[in-house]
Order: sequence, then structure tokens, then C-alpha cells
Amino acid sequence: MVVGFEKSVSATKSVPSSAKKTLSSDSVINFARGDPTMYESYWKRLGERCTVVISGNDLMSYFSDAEKVCWFLMPELDHAIRRLHRVVGNAIADDDRFIVVGNGSTQLFQALLYALSSPNEPEPISVVAAVPFYSSYPEETEFLCSGLYKWAGDAYSFDKDGPYIEVVTSPNNPDGAIREAVVNREGGKLIHDLAYYWPQYTPITSRADYDVMLFTLSKATGHAGSRIGWAIVKDKEITTKMVKFIELSSIGVSKESQLRAAKILGVISDDCQNSGPNREENFFEYGQRLMSERWEKLREVVKRNGVFSLPKYPQDYCNFIGKYTDSNPAFAWLKSKDGVNCDNLLREHKLVTRCGTNFGVGSKYTRISMLSPDEEFNLFLERLSAIQGPPMERLIVKG
Ligand SMILES: Cc1ncc(COP(=O)(O)O)c(C=O)c1O
Repeated sequence: MVVGFEKSVSATKSVPSSAKKTLSSDSVINFARGDPTMYESYWKRLGERCTVVISGNDLMSYFSDAEKVCWFLMPELDHAIRRLHRVVGNAIADDDRFIVVGNGSTQLFQALLYALSSPNEPEPISVVAAVPFYSSYPEETEFLCSGLYKWAGDAYSFDKDGPYIEVVTSPNNPDGAIREAVVNREGGKLIHDLAYYWPQYTPITSRADYDVMLFTLSKATGHAGSRIGWAIVKDKEITTKMVKFIELSSIGVSKESQLRAAKILGVISDDCQNSGPNREENFFEYGQRLMSERWEKLREVVKRNGVFSLPKYPQDYCNFIGKYTDSNPAFAWLKSKDGVNCDNLLREHKLVTRCGTNFGVGSKYTRISMLSPDEEFNLFLERLSAIQGPPMERLIVKG
């Protein structure tokens, strides 16, 4: 089965990146999804340090802290999230901000659409994002045919008066760009999706301080299967509406997952703060080194075969690492130099990627996950090296 998130690609014979199969030269490999399995080896190395033991009589109540606005958020996770943001310096999560936990940031995005819209408006509020945008935003916005909000496409061409919601993803999925809001008009509400604002992907240049910020364990630590995301919100009313949405859709969030997330975030913070003589590479240093090695190899292959190009990112000073670092996005946004359909070309080489048309742009672009296990990533480089121009006539994009 191909799981339907980010619209399943027709890859029934492909190897899901989490499957423990031996790869051969015939294996079709799926790089269309951002399944962050490359971090598995790091967490294996940590062994028992991240183990959480839960007894049969533990965690039985729906409630975590009935006094709090977000009554299903466990105090352990609340504490671990605020601490990690303080340690990394990537977002302000002081005690005057509310934290809402969700079943992934996917649920929080939908909770926000509900919280930022109003049933008293004459028409649904427009939801926009600048192209290329994360392909799930339009799907999630349109799925229920809501009367409260509707997808209105590219923020660059949005010219309607009245209220709107703009999603600002920074670093951006799919192209890794650092972004600001583009519409900037009265009545605008912003959702800052900061899923990739962590040191392994981009230099941490300041503490983000937006009204609404989304983060996810999936991309921060690689634990996508725990389905934990969190929102940092300034406004109490918006928080209350988000909590209501989650209450009605899932009556909270698994406490097992919250405890596991709290444990993992706590271990990362401990390691980041350890300056002792036995200090080892912490998770973000490890991730930054690995991503940087992968990007270097990819750029080398792309340069050598001359068929594709990749975006260039300026270096910046990373406050967390303490030196100038490169951006190493979670996805490679590959463009065909000759305008051929990139996705089709790569499929000929048994590489399944995600075509640019899913992100609001053309098929000369495609998105490739950089978060697959080593074996798959190496095979990807090998196959990419084998692709030679000039492009075949039938692959050329017309119109
Ligand atoms: C920008 C962005 N936001 C949100 C998500 C969804 O994250 P989660 O696994 O927390 O639902 C993703 C996943 O790829 C993403 O790329």
C-alpha cells in the first residue's frame, strides 16, 4: 500500500524508504515522500537513553493538565519543547506563549484554518502560499469543501481585497528558500510553518517571533511515526479555537507519543548543553554534518552530468553551531536545464520523485527527498550520475 499523504504516487512496485529490503539494480526507489528515516542510525547509537517504559496502568486519563488551555498537552512535553527552543535559539517559546500539541503539524494546520477563519464572514477566507508551495496545503484546505476557508493558490498573484490567510514556510518545502510573507495587506493572517527551521537544514540566524509558528517532531528529530507536532501561539483566543478543533477531531493527542517526544527532546537538549570532557556530537551537529556531506555529493554529481541544476543558497552565521554554515535542505529541488519533464526522466532510471506540478509550478522541476537511508541515497547518486543529456525528444514539455 502506498500511504495517501502528499497524494500517493503511482509507485506500487517501489520500495517505501522505511522498508528494510535489500536494494538491487532493479529496485525502484521512492524519493517522493519526505520520510526522515536517515536519522534511524543516530537514534540506534543512543540505545537505551531514549527508551520510555510505560506500564499498563499509566496514562489512562484523557486529561493531562485540566487547568491549562491546551488541557491534553503533557507538562513534560510542554517543558521539553520550550527548553529545546531556548537551547537551539530558533524560536521564542517563553511562558507567555501558548503551546498546542497536535497529531503532527498536519492536524495543527487544519486546526489553524478553523481558528483563523470566522463563520460570520460573507464568504470563505482565502488561503494562499507563494509558489512553489508544500503540496499538502491545497489538499488539506480543499478536502472538506469548508464554508469557512478556501484555497486561493499562489500568494504572488493574489489580489483580492479582504481577509486572507498566508502560509509562510521557511525554509520552504520544496525548494529550501528562506521566506517572508509576500501579500502584506490589511486583513492578512499568517501561519509560519517552521518545520525545517533546525540547524541540520539551515543556519539559525535569529529566534523566530511570529504570531503562530508550527513545528514537527517528524522533521526536527526524524520521529515522524510518533505523529507529534506543536504550535507556538501568542493569542489565547486562537489557542482556544485550535484546542476545540483537536478536541472534536481526536480528543487530544496520544500520551505515549507525547512522553516519547518529551524524552527525545530532553536528551537532545541535554547533549546540546553538555560541554564536558566526554562531550559527543549532538543530534543537530550530526544532522548538519550528514546533510552537508549529502549536499556536497549531490552538487558534485549534478555538476558533472550537466543535465540538471539546483538552487544556490547563501551561507549565513548559525548562532547554534557558532560559525558560518550552508543551507542543506531536506529536499533537493531539481530543475532540468533543457526543460524536459524531470519526473519522467528520473522514472526511466527507477527513481520516483515528486513532480513540480504538485507544488504549483511546471514539470521541469521535481522534488527529491534528501532524508532517505544511506543505501538508497547512494543508489540515487549512482543512478543520477548515469543520466546523460541530450534529453530524449518525447520527454520534452510542450506548452
Ligand atoms: C512544510 C511541512 N509542514 C508540515 C509537514 C507535516 O508534518 P507532520 O508529519 O508533523 O504532519 C510537512 C511534512 O512533510 C512539511 O514538509
